[in-house]
Amino acid sequence: MTKIALVTGANKGIGFETAKQLAQHNIKVLLGARNETEGKKAERILRDLSLDVTYIKLDISDSLDIENVKNHIESEYGALDILVNNAAVFLDSAWFGNNTETVPMQTLRDTFDINYFGTVELTQALLPAIKKSEAGRIVNISSISGSFGVHLDEAHRLYALKPYAYSASKTALNQFTVFLAQALRESKIKVNAANPGWVKTSIGSDQAPLTPEDGAKTGVSLALLDENGPTGTFSESGEVLPW
Ligand SMILES: NC(=O)c1ccc[n+]([C@@H]2O[C@H](COP(=O)([O-])OP(=O)(O)OC[C@H]3O[C@@H](n4cnc5c(N)ncnc54)[C@H](OP(=O)(O)O)[C@@H]3O)[C@@H](O)[C@H]2O)c1
Repeated sequence: MTKIALVTGANKGIGFETAKQLAQHNIKVLLGARNETEGKKAERILRDLSLDVTYIKLDISDSLDIENVKNHIESEYGALDILVNNAAVFLDSAWFGNNTETVPMQTLRDTFDINYFGTVELTQALLPAIKKSEAGRIVNISSISGSFGVHLDEAHRLYALKPYAYSASKTALNQFTVFLAQALRESKIKVNAANPGWVKTSIGSDQAPLTPEDGAKTGVSLALLDENGPTGTFSESGEVLPW
């Protein structure tokens, strides 16, 4: 039976590439995007490659969109096999430097609304459909900047990377990954967090060394884990990262 996947923020960057690579594995992919024009454009590009994709309107900070997507998936497909929580924003003023003393509350709230609350709300809403899958996979696209291991290690090459709102939202997402994996331990569902690496996208900037194609690979491999694969992990290219 054809597997069904939903990728959030699939109109560009790592999300678009994740959707493309999953569809290349003969998975039917729902392309979640908040902007209809951009979502339909992505759908057209991937359909031109003969890939089985369908745009679905999804602003993950909009409860009504989440409800609509949940209802659509349950009525159209019954079960959801793969959820890739990729959508996120970077609203801090810079990647480097520590802005913890001054970051505006609105920046923190807007960042958490999408990167954390939206992701948690969507995942909770889709869990009943994921539980109906033979082998549900939830992949949270996190960031190494959310790692306590990095921020407590002055010698780490990314120690100076301290955009507070973005990093804290990814730390919270990592906690969600651990707790949800533990809550679902007796089920067949696996929940893992991925760091894509530093990728050339709107969030990663032009300076980044990796292409979105490379950046999608960790999340895709976690989405395709077999029954022996791990749950409750944080990794990049197969290498386990410190929480
Ligand atoms: N690039 C890197 O170096 C890097 C490193 C570590 C982690 N990451 C993570 O990788 C993931 C993908 O980011 P990216 O680098 O590919 O950046 P990107 O090109 O800016 O893509 C972000 C995607 O998220 C979507 N999005 C933002 N807010 C949304 C909302 N409320 N509802 C639905 N979609 C929303 C964006 O849609 P719009 O086009 O409408 O804005 C866009 O499709 C993110 O979780 C990011 O934190 C990236």
